[in-house]
Parts: sequence; structure tokens; C-alpha cells
Amino acid sequence: MLDWLLSSIDPSRGHEVGFAISWHARLMTLAWGVLVPAAIFAARYMKIVPGQDWPRELDNKTWWHFHWMGQALAYAISLIGLGLVLGRGENPFQLNLHTVLGYVVLAFGTCQVLLGIFRGSKGGPTARATDGSLHGDHYDMTPKRLMFERVHRSLGYLALLLGMITILVGMWNANAPRWMWVVLVNYWMFLVVASVIAQIRGNAVDTYQAIWGPDPSLPGNKLPKMGWRTVRPSEKTNGQSGQTLEGAE
Ligand code: HEM
Ligand code: HEM
Repeated sequence: MLDWLLSSIDPSRGHEVGFAISWHARLMTLAWGVLVPAAIFAARYMKIVPGQDWPRELDNKTWWHFHWMGQALAYAISLIGLGLVLGRGENPFQLNLHTVLGYVVLAFGTCQVLLGIFRGSKGGPTARATDGSLHGDHYDMTPKRLMFERVHRSLGYLALLLGMITILVGMWNANAPRWMWVVLVNYWMFLVVASVIAQIRGNAVDTYQAIWGPDPSLPGNKLPKMGWRTVRPSEKTNGQSGQTLEGAE
């Protein structure tokens, strides 16, 4: 069993990778295989955390810190990973599936970080505008914010999927040992199972309500909710207790 795990996925080829490629592979897998999916999970399912007394306690920043710090770290690590392959002194930009996918993933990652940075102002009682009003791109759900959420979500899931494929193609090209495939696929399966459970439990909470609450007079609550299969706690019945959360405060 141990021999099987330590041997390469394709026994007919060797597994000879030098320093630059082995560290490129480790760093890229850490970034796109481990950190990016975990940071997306946090953004989707941790907007209201267990024990939080929502809606009395709004805008819990756990998801936010996990998400932006995790993604910023993943992005920084990917740039080091890219620097390692480019620093090998071999002709860059050779046309093969892994290289093309790799540059597309890095381009999407760059767009995601830029979209995040330039997503606009927050507004609301905790981040008032300079004139003292509640106005802000998120609080008002301005066209800019609506566009950000649509594009950032779609591009984010696409980048995640392409990142996973890029890793698998890279591992195949480098003829990685079987234990690496087993560990990585098990980690992804764990996240898939955790996501299914969190989805069924109604943890994919609408960002607007998680942050600003259920008051129907709030600008964002007058618009249809954002995101695929997200839930507005004010509209859902609590599956566990059968009570509705509407009018909790
Ligand atoms: C440091 C840069 C980043 C910032 C500041 C940022 C910010 C945000 C914000 C504010 C949201 C919530 C928006 C909403 O609820 O619709 C969000 C969600 C999301 N982000 Fe990022 N993000 C960053 C990087 C990334 C990267 C690099 C990826 C993926 C490659 C990514 C993927 C996603 C996805 C998929 C969601 C939606 C999760 C859901 O389904 O609710 N983000 N991000
Ligand atoms: C999402 C994660 C990854 C990204 C974004 C990525 C990106 C890239 C890019 C852009 C290049 C081309 C650099 C050039 O112009 O020469 C490259 C080359 C390479 N990468 Fe990755 N990589 C990732 C994961 C991996 C993994 C996990 C492995 C191995 C297990 C790997 C192995 C290689 C190898 C062997 C090369 C050089 C030869 C070739 O082009 O196939 N990469 N990678």
C-alpha cells in the first residue's frame, strides 16, 4: 500500500522534477487547491456564524477576514509560484494545456483581486459617507455593487474550477506520486461534503441581510436577492425549529 502511494501515477514515466518545478507545484497547489476553495467557502457559508445572535448582532466579519486575507495570500503565493517557473531560464509561454490554463487562472485571479479592491464604498450606519449620510455602494446596492457581485461571483467560481483543472494537468505532466492525488482529492471531497451540509442547513446567507439585517425598508431588501441558491433569513423558515425568523427584531 505504501509503495503504491509513493509511486507515480503513470509508472511508465519518471517523476523527475527539479527545485523550481517542485516548489512551483507545492505553492500553486497550496494557493489554488487549498486556500482559494477554503476562502470561497468562508465567503459563501460563514456570513452568519454559529452562536451569532442575528439580527441583533449584524455584520459579523469572520467571513470577510477569512475571504480577503485567504485570497490575498493565495494570490501572493501564486506570484511566487509563477516567478519560480519563469526563473528556470527556459523559454517561457510554451503552448501547452497547463501553461495556457495557468495564465488564464492567474489573469482571472488578478481580475478578482482588482474587483475586490475597487468594489466601491460600504455606507450604512457603520461606514457613513463623508456628508454623514448612510449612502454607500453596498448599502444602496448601486449598479456598481450589483455588477461587482455578479461578475466577482461568476468569475470566482470559474477561476476556482479552472485552477483545479490546472493543478490536475500540472500533476499529470509532472507525473506526481499517487499520495498527492489522494490527499488533494480527499480535501476537495471534504469541502464538497461540507458545502452540501452548509447549503442544506441554509448557511448560504444573502450578503445584504447578513450585514444590514432584515428590515424591508432597507434599499437592498427591496431588490431581489443576489447569488445562486442563497437564502434571505427573513424569508426562510428555520429548518431545525420550524419557526420563521421573520420579525425577530
Ligand atoms: C483580496 C481580494 C478579494 C476581495 C477584497 C474580495 C471580496 C469579496 C466580497 C466583498 C465578496 C462578497 C460579495 C457577495 O456577497 O456577492 C466576495 C465573494 C466571493 N469571492 Fe471574493 N474577494 C477577493 C478575492 C477573490 C478571489 C481571488 C476569488 C476567486 C478566485 C474570489 C471569489 C469569490 C467568490 C466565488 C465569492 C462568492 C461566494 C458566494 O457564493 O457567496 N474572491 N469576495
Ligand atoms: C492553479 C495552479 C497552477 C498555476 C496557475 C500554474 C501556472 C503555470 C504557468 C503559467 C506555467 C508556465 C510558465 C512559463 O511561461 O513557462 C506553468 C508551468 C509549469 N507548471 Fe504550473 N501551475 C499550477 C500548478 C501546477 C502544478 C500543481 C504542477 C505540478 C504538479 C505544475 C507543474 C508545472 C510544470 C512542470 C511547468 C513547466 C512545464 C509546462 O509548461 O508544463 N503546475 N505553470
